Amino acid sequence: MIKVKQNAFPKLAIGALLAVFSLYGCSSGTEQSQAPAEDAFNKYYDGKGVGPITEYAIGTADVTQRVDSGQKVFETKCTSCHKLTAERAIGPGLLGITKIRRPEWIMNQILNPMEMTQKDSMAQALLKKYTTQMINMNLTEGEAGAVYEYLKKNDGGAQ
Ligand code: HEC
Repeated sequence: MIKVKQNAFPKLAIGALLAVFSLYGCSSGTEQSQAPAEDAFNKYYDGKGVGPITEYAIGTADVTQRVDSGQKVFETKCTSCHKLTAERAIGPGLLGITKIRRPEWIMNQILNPMEMTQKDSMAQALLKKYTTQMINMNLTEGEAGAVYEYLKKNDGGAQ
């Protein structure tokens, strides 16, 4: 009798442990497949990033003109990797971007993408997700500002 008890106990204990582990494994597995990464990137990020732009000033230039020149720059230098919708291409879809990132951050990402992906936590996370380094397209600060205005218009933002 005693012998049977001693043999049965470890088996039961192992069985119970396995059941607990497999339940735990399942539930954490589902949590991970809920794609929390998407949510994290679509949230407002309050950083200005790293680069030449510390304060965004709209300046005195005509806004319509800036939007138009921004569109031209975007079409020649950005559309190979980005769409204006939410759809992912080589880089993230840019619809809504001006609502979740500061103008300074967006311009620094355009003007200084290498240092951004090394030092800014959001840009680092984006690089990890997209596994491609955005390249420096050698825009002037004025062109980067114009592209920002164009993206803002794409988001339905008031000027
Ligand atoms: C060679 C492809 C490529 C080109 C060209 C490119 N990008 Fe990117 N871009 C990326 C990738 C990949 C990411 C995300 C990872 C990273 O930052 O490297 C990104 C990230 C971004 C982000 C951050 C998006 C977010 O969700 O926060 C913005 C804004 C952006 N790019 C704007 C631009 C603009 C504007 C241009 C044109 C001047 C441009 N990019 C040109 C590939 C590119």
